[in-house]
Amino acid sequence: MKDSAPGTVYLSDYAPFGWLIESVHLEFDLDPDATRVKSRIVFSPNLNSPEQEFFLHGENLRLISARIDGTAISPRITREGLTCPVPEGEFLFEAEVEINPGANTALEGLYLSNGMFCTQCEAEGFRKITYYPDRPEVMAVFTVEINGSASVLLSNGNPGPRGPGHALWHDPWPKPSYLFALVAGDLVAHSDRFTTASGRRVDLNLWVRPGGDEDKCAFAMEALKRAMQWDEQVYGREYDLDVFNIVAVDDFNMGAMENKGLNVFNSAAVLASPETSTDANFERIEAIIAHEYFHNWTGNRITCRDWFQLCLKEGLTVFRDAQFTADMRSAPVKRIRDVIDLRARQFPEDNGPLAHPVRPDHFQEINNFYTATVYEKGAEVIGMLKRLVGDKAYAEALELYFARFDGQAITIEDWLSVFEDVTGRELCQFLRWYTQAGTPRVAVKEEYDSGTYTLTFTQSTPPSAASPVQRPQIIPIAVGLLGANGDEVVPTQMLELTKDSQSFTFEGLSGRPVPSILRDFSAPVILEHEISDAERAFLLAHDTDPFNRWEAGQALARETLCYMATSDARPNPDYLEGLRAVLRDDSLDPAYRALMLGLPGESEIALALSAHGIIPAPEAIHAARERLLDALSETLADDLPALLDANAVRERYSPDAAQSGRRALFTAALALWSRRDGGARAASEYAAADNMTLQLGALGALLAIGRGEAETAAFYEQWRHERLVIDKWFAIQISHAAPDAAVAKTRALVQHPDFNWKNPNRFRAVLGALAGNHGGFHSRDGRGYALFADWLLTLDPVNPQTAARMCTAFQSWRHYDGGRQMLIGAQLDRIATAGGRSKDMGEMIARIRA
Ligand code: PHE
Ligand code: ZN
Repeated sequence: MKDSAPGTVYLSDYAPFGWLIESVHLEFDLDPDATRVKSRIVFSPNLNSPEQEFFLHGENLRLISARIDGTAISPRITREGLTCPVPEGEFLFEAEVEINPGANTALEGLYLSNGMFCTQCEAEGFRKITYYPDRPEVMAVFTVEINGSASVLLSNGNPGPRGPGHALWHDPWPKPSYLFALVAGDLVAHSDRFTTASGRRVDLNLWVRPGGDEDKCAFAMEALKRAMQWDEQVYGREYDLDVFNIVAVDDFNMGAMENKGLNVFNSAAVLASPETSTDANFERIEAIIAHEYFHNWTGNRITCRDWFQLCLKEGLTVFRDAQFTADMRSAPVKRIRDVIDLRARQFPEDNGPLAHPVRPDHFQEINNFYTATVYEKGAEVIGMLKRLVGDKAYAEALELYFARFDGQAITIEDWLSVFEDVTGRELCQFLRWYTQAGTPRVAVKEEYDSGTYTLTFTQSTPPSAASPVQRPQIIPIAVGLLGANGDEVVPTQMLELTKDSQSFTFEGLSGRPVPSILRDFSAPVILEHEISDAERAFLLAHDTDPFNRWEAGQALARETLCYMATSDARPNPDYLEGLRAVLRDDSLDPAYRALMLGLPGESEIALALSAHGIIPAPEAIHAARERLLDALSETLADDLPALLDANAVRERYSPDAAQSGRRALFTAALALWSRRDGGARAASEYAAADNMTLQLGALGALLAIGRGEAETAAFYEQWRHERLVIDKWFAIQISHAAPDAAVAKTRALVQHPDFNWKNPNRFRAVLGALAGNHGGFHSRDGRGYALFADWLLTLDPVNPQTAARMCTAFQSWRHYDGGRQMLIGAQLDRIATAGGRSKDMGEMIARIRA
């Protein structure tokens, strides 16, 4: 079904570009406000008899001259690009354009960050650099000449001859324009080297601005080498150039970008030191370094035919980086973290007005589709595929994938074809995971009769604008059965649910078992399994599947919070006692126990209530969560001092899984203990902290009980020259503010001289923290909504991409009461009718209001 919104692009309208590109030669004369770009592009006709006119994308370019086969032409120029008649057969297109990087605040195309030239071309930024068929399936070999005064001049591929003010780069691998990159600045390198399995020597450089960042490179470099080796060992993929460059940039809309041979990173996603970065930062950096590196094969060598296929590279690469993290650290901990993240970010998207399939079929602005659905659900879908075909067939299918599609731009159907060919299985039902939006609900019924146990599953997915008709999915459900003493009587089996409703029978049991369903979160669904608190407590104590054991505790916490938020119910003692037993079990990994201590967030409770037909009251949810935390600190009063002692790390700091797990348990215990000792211990831990994990953990514990004023001031003085730490300073004050103080705190902080809102990291630190403070954002008088909308409107003309992405803060608005819906609706109307709004934000607001 097509809606009539102008400017909408449909997958069903896909048509190939009429020409191939034989070669691209670019020459840059860099200048902050008048950079000249000369292009020489050799086109040849594609199979499908080209028209006699062709169109090249180009935006905000000043055309100086254009020639075809040496003859000057006067093409027709519009806001979107250039059209001109072209000869039959092969021809040379030449153009010279002028662009203004200094005026580029959108951070897309060529722009300046702290005086450094850098580019961001995915998805459609290359058209802001020169005229070009800026579509991913047009792959070409690039040669790039750079003239500029900076000491370091970088582009993709291998370096050629260079001299003062000049550098030449050649990338032998055909690539789409979105992978083009150029960086020029007075940078210093942290260098290393890697030898591939087949003996190719690769120079590795991590480029940063001099003066403070050089000592924050070592960890990312080690992570890169581990990722390179892992991809050889696990996927048989080697690196394919002589150099691999990474550049850290302060102004960046996303985490990082996989440009061929020249990854560009948000500084926050690459720079780390124990004093300035938390354990969570280290783990994230390791994952992003791996993610961008893995793109070299899944994204760059094999790329997307069109942007609807974005999940082809992103889902697979997220899946691969998750495997890497699981191997480097703890697989259960990584799995649990990913599910927490999926529920916090993807479920609200998939169950609200922004729902879209993993492979969307229409969009206005592709930048709005770099979503949790495309990335994280896209990775879950690959996890399911692997479960369904098994590890061996998965490995064979990937071998075939790389062999068959190397150098091509392909579709999800192509991706699935290798699995069909390797297994002989038809995957047309599986394709629905890519084409249907929404989170399937899976309801479970149990029956037991003299040794025979039957599980009946019923699936349904609520229809939505994106998917009005929902058809049954193929859902892998991992199930194990436990006996009364906690022994596993039936080990994990992969049941395949393919119909609306289906039963599975287990024979020969000696008693009624307790089922452990959806082990390891084997599918991204909502499980509706009504079991007693006693059974959940039993699973919390005994489940042999670490994910489901954690899940049992979460389900108890979620349910008790839902009751507590809607009545004056007291916390469920089964939960409190069960959790205490788990925490006392020293055989369990501290990182895992720390996750056990984590309560569902307030917005998760709001969505859970709303799923039960109850309108959530944010103040009541916050109060319920506070009461549960108090009850936990009371129940665990005798255990917390011992937990703190046992998990205090006295060794030299290392961000590894073991140490960071102990610190995670330590800081979780510290936060609870602060509710008992009024923050005395947290204050002394703060004073003694010699790493950011502890410093921030202690500060958070103090702020959460309404203390920490002196520490907050001291923190600023200590770190005022470390921009990445100051981002944390802004964020923690807002995220830990009480609901009735969060808006005022945000108002005060946007007045702070260091609130440089044009920097995406700083903007997100402040406004993202406000949106994440559920009680504060949803403050009953609507001040949170109004302040947030003010800032969206301020940012939009400057940086539409980041402004549009942050509109997601409003996506769950229909779940709240009429008063709040009116207040949010008024802000959405205000944004919708504001003049000069970007296409990015226009699309987001229209979808949220729909
Ligand atoms: N492709 C990048 C990644 O997933 C993300 C990105 C998208 C960065 C668009 C910049 C712009 O690693
Ligand atoms: Zn990616």
